[in-house]
Amino acid sequence: MEYWRIGVVLDSQTLMMLSEKYVANTYARYPILLVRGKGTRVWDLEGKEYLDFVSGLAVCNLGHCHPKVVKAIRDQAEKLIHVSNFYYIEPQIQLASLLCKHSFADKVFFCNSGAEANEGAIKLARKYAKEKMGENRHEIITMERSFHGRTMATLTATAQEKFHKGYAPLMPGFKYVPFSDINAVKGAIDSKTCAILVEPIQGEGGVNCPTEGYLKALREICDEKGILLIFDEVQVGMGRTGKLFAYEHEGVEPDMLTLAKSLAGGVPIGALLIRKGIAESFKPGDHASTFGGNPLATAAGIAALTTILEEGMLENCQQVGEYFFTRLEKIGEKFSFIKEVRGRGLILGMELKIDGSSIVKEMMRRGILINCTMGNVLRFLPPLIVTKEEVDRVIEMLEEVFKGISDQK
Ligand SMILES: Cc1ncc(COP(=O)(O)O)c(C=O)c1O
Repeated sequence: MEYWRIGVVLDSQTLMMLSEKYVANTYARYPILLVRGKGTRVWDLEGKEYLDFVSGLAVCNLGHCHPKVVKAIRDQAEKLIHVSNFYYIEPQIQLASLLCKHSFADKVFFCNSGAEANEGAIKLARKYAKEKMGENRHEIITMERSFHGRTMATLTATAQEKFHKGYAPLMPGFKYVPFSDINAVKGAIDSKTCAILVEPIQGEGGVNCPTEGYLKALREICDEKGILLIFDEVQVGMGRTGKLFAYEHEGVEPDMLTLAKSLAGGVPIGALLIRKGIAESFKPGDHASTFGGNPLATAAGIAALTTILEEGMLENCQQVGEYFFTRLEKIGEKFSFIKEVRGRGLILGMELKIDGSSIVKEMMRRGILINCTMGNVLRFLPPLIVTKEEVDRVIEMLEEVFKGISDQK
């Protein structure tokens, strides 16, 4: 049977079986197959509705299939889907200027994913430092529990051993220190250091917020030593924390910043935002990506970015985020297995003293998608358009599931 022909209708059991057979086994998947999305909701093949507090892992910040993003994709697809970076690309130019207008940056390099954006940052940091400070300057300091991607360089930058297993030898040139420990950073800097790479809030590592003043102190050290400060905002950028970029909360600007995930409302894209004086170290031929900044992705990016700014999504994220945080903390007082609630805006984490995987499954059975990271941190990443009523529904359901585990205080 030719499964791939348009018009062939398969049931989800058959599709899952074909997935096991033909798709590389790199993901532990839940047994549901999602086929449609609108706003905060997604539906599986059988028509069951789910309230989505995962958002494709911080990708669908505008909600699923936002009409302005859909229109931009449709209009651009009819005009021009792809051309080479040999030529100037209209929406690429517009998205780059829009990103610069709303950030610290003066130039943008486009690519296709978060890992690729971080690869670009790592390469440019080395190139800049070698040019300005000498051949020996190549080392990058990253933080324990960080996550920067799955390519060899970004995997090495990711200071979590579990992701390294089986892939030795790793890339040389990275040094790890505990997150939010400024003295550890000071101790790690030496004559080889060229940059510090850090997430303003760690996402995959368990929704870890830095202590007050940490990012500012990093900026000061970088200025003092002449090394570069790189913020990885792949997960927390594009409004997720209630400001367009997380660094805005602290009033601390990086030298480079990486974006991906929600930048184009769900269309694959990555971007490296760069400050003047550093961007110039990239010259024609130094770095490239076939699809980087292609017309389709950047047209979607313009629609996503302008919609976030123009439809009050940042304000909603702040208000509903604070409400959600407070409600999570209230539940935290009721159950002894809840350790802590963390996060900002609509990236919230609830650390448990128990494994969280069965809670995710039970919530899913009840029609709510949430995530668990590091084994015991429930992570909530709803679209930025989420309402307080939807938060109430998740809270009520969580409480019911927690009661099932019992152990009430
Ligand atoms: C902070 C951060 N950086 C980089 C990445 C890697 O992005 P991608 O999966 O698009 O390569 C992720 C993915 O979760 C991330 O959270």
